[in-house]
Amino acid sequence: MPTNEPLNRKLRMALVGGGRGSFIGRVHATAAVLDNRAQLVAGALSSDPVRAKESAEDYAISPDRAYGSYQELIEKELALPEDERIDFISIATPNFTHFEIAKAAVEAGFNVICDKPLTLDMPQAEALLEAVEKSDVVFAVTHNYTGYPLVRQARQMVTSGELGEIMAVRVNYIQGWLVEKLEDSDQKQAAWRTDPKRSGAAGCFGDIATHAYNLGRFITGQLPEKISCHLKTFVGGRQLDDYGHAVITYENGALGTVTASQITHGRENDVAIEVDGTKGSLSWRQENPNELWVRRNGNAHQLHTRDPNAPFMSQIAADSCRLPAGHPEAFFEAFANIYRAAYDNMCLRISGKTFETTDTLYPNIYDGVEGMYFIQQSVASSADNGAWLPLKHATSRR
Ligand SMILES: NC(=O)c1ccc[n+]([C@@H]2O[C@H](COP(=O)([O-])OP(=O)(O)OC[C@H]3O[C@@H](n4cnc5c(N)ncnc54)[C@H](O)[C@@H]3O)[C@@H](O)[C@H]2O)c1
Repeated sequence: MPTNEPLNRKLRMALVGGGRGSFIGRVHATAAVLDNRAQLVAGALSSDPVRAKESAEDYAISPDRAYGSYQELIEKELALPEDERIDFISIATPNFTHFEIAKAAVEAGFNVICDKPLTLDMPQAEALLEAVEKSDVVFAVTHNYTGYPLVRQARQMVTSGELGEIMAVRVNYIQGWLVEKLEDSDQKQAAWRTDPKRSGAAGCFGDIATHAYNLGRFITGQLPEKISCHLKTFVGGRQLDDYGHAVITYENGALGTVTASQITHGRENDVAIEVDGTKGSLSWRQENPNELWVRRNGNAHQLHTRDPNAPFMSQIAADSCRLPAGHPEAFFEAFANIYRAAYDNMCLRISGKTFETTDTLYPNIYDGVEGMYFIQQSVASSADNGAWLPLKHATSRR
C-alpha cells in the first residue's frame, strides 16, 4: 500500500464543484480518499453559494469550511495556520471556470488537480502554464483513462518494444446521450457542454475526443505532427459539434485516427483503442477495462486480464491494482491512480524535497496544454475543410 512518506500525515483536500446534482465532483472526492492518503476538509461546491454550503453536508465538510465561492475558500484557507490549511484543490467545475480557479489556486501556492479540458481556450492554457511554471506546485489533469492498470500495461508493452514499430493507432470515444437536444430541457450537463461560452470552441471534441487523443499519446508515446479534422453537428440548432473524425500523422511515420460521437444511439462511454505494431497489435475498451487483447498473426489471440500477480504484468500495471484478479476494478480506481501519483509528488513538495514534474504517472499541465492545442487545431482544420495543420506536443514529458 502506498504511503504519504516522507510527509507522514494525510493530505488535506478542498473540492471546487461537485455540488448537489453534479457529476464528476463526487468521483474526485471518492477517488481522492480511496487509499486513505487524503481527507476532504473544505469545499466551494457550487456556483450558487447557498447550494454550495448545503452540499457540504453530503461530503461531511464542516460548516466553517463550507465556502460560498472559490475566492472565499482561498482567502480563508490562506488565513489558517499551516498545519490546518488545505494542501490541494480539486477542480470539478465546467470548462469556462477552470482557468480562473486554477490560476488563483496556483498563485496562492496550492497544489491542483484539475479536470479536463484544461481551460476554455489556448490563451488561457498558455497563461495557466506560465503561472504553474513560475510556481513549484504539483499540477495534475484528470485524463483518468491513463490510470487503468491495463492501459499502463499496454503502454509498457509499446515502450518495451513488444509490439515492434508502431504503425497505426485508432482511438474511438462513442456516446449516444446527446442524440436528443437535451440542452433544451433541464439537463444542465448538456446545457453547458453545448454552449461555446462555457464549453469552448468544440463540443464533443472538447469533451471526449480530448480524452481519446490523450489516451493514444499515453499508450503509444508517439509524437504528433499534423492533424486533419472534420467536425459535424447533427442535431439541429445545436451550436457545437456532436461528432467528429481526426486523422493524425506522427513524427515516426505512424498514422492515427480519433473518432468521437455523442449521437450514436445506445452507446454509453465506449472509449476504445487499437494499436498496430510491426510485431503485434493490441486493443483495449474501457467498458471492459480488465481485459487487454494482444494479437500476432499465426498465434492464438492473447487475453491479458488484470491480475497483479501474473508474470506478464509489468510492475507499473501491477502497482496500479488494488484488488486480486477477477474482482472488477474500474472508473473510480483508475481515477484514484491519478491521485495516487500526484500525492507522491505533493508529499515530496510539502516536505521540502524536489520532485519531477515530468515522466510521472499522472497527466500534468503539459498534457493539459497539449489537449487544448488538439482542440484548437481540430476546430481550425474542420473550419478549413480538413486542412492539415501542425500539432504541438508535450516533449518534456515523453
Ligand atoms: N475526467 C472525466 O472523466 C470527466 C467526466 C465528466 C466531466 N469531466 C469534466 O469535469 C468538469 C465538470 O463536469 P460535470 O459533468 O461534473 O459538470 P456538472 O455540471 O455536473 O457539475 C459542475 C459543478 O460545478 C459547480 N460550479 C460551477 N461553477 C462553479 C464555481 N465558479 N465555483 C464552484 N462551483 C462551481 C456547479 O454548481 C456544479 O456543482 C468539466 O470540466 C468536465 O469536462 C471530466
